[in-house]
Amino acid sequence: MYYKPLQRNDSLSHDPFNALVVPRPIGWISTISREGVVNLAPYSYFNAVSNKPPMVLFAPVGPKDSQRNAEAMGDFVVNLVTWDLREKMNATSASVSPEISEPELVGLEMKPSQLVKPPRVAAAAAALECRWVKSVPLETAAGERMAGAIVIGEVVGIHIDDAIIVDGRIDLSARQVISRLGYKDYGVLDTIFSMPSPG
Ligand SMILES: Cc1cc2nc3c(=O)[nH]c(=O)nc-3n(C[C@H](O)[C@H](O)[C@H](O)COP(=O)(O)O)c2cc1C
Repeated sequence: MYYKPLQRNDSLSHDPFNALVVPRPIGWISTISREGVVNLAPYSYFNAVSNKPPMVLFAPVGPKDSQRNAEAMGDFVVNLVTWDLREKMNATSASVSPEISEPELVGLEMKPSQLVKPPRVAAAAAALECRWVKSVPLETAAGERMAGAIVIGEVVGIHIDDAIIVDGRIDLSARQVISRLGYKDYGVLDTIFSMPSPG
């Protein structure tokens, strides 16, 4: 089969794109609005893009509070999503108005960050404090402006639950990070293997 994204193929019930670029890490983004409302939402168009300095991006596909807040206030926090937090994470993806605080709505305790204004998810195994760098509006190869954007941040501080530090290394085996697949599917990181680099 050859699939052209803009010309739907009737033999596939769903667009296959999201089921092929997998697994996608989930950035659970906390922000705070000018009015002081704490916002929390998951983004699987999310990834690390550099480690010197550490930088991340997330991509809202349309106008979203997380982007608006990050731009208005200049910062955001990326909370790690693990198996134990999957239901709460999903609940925070509900489409609610900006005056509603998702952590309050779903009953999630937040803790203050050190260098940025938005708080972090208290139960998260790790949280990346980010300063907003820039947002890049998306446009197609033909130059058509899309509703989405790439929001880029620099990681300026990292909270790590001491329980996931074993012999000076991060060990997430007890918490099991989850990732996004296609459709309504998720993956659990439960098998890890090492390979020596060829040098
Ligand atoms: C696992 C998961 C991943 C998601 N990834 C994205 C994404 O990458 N981009 C996006 O625009 N929406 C994504 N969503 C939907 C947003 O979380 C949802 O639109 C949310 O209401 C946005 O909240 P906000 O307006 O407070 O930022 C995702 C939802 C889930 C459950």
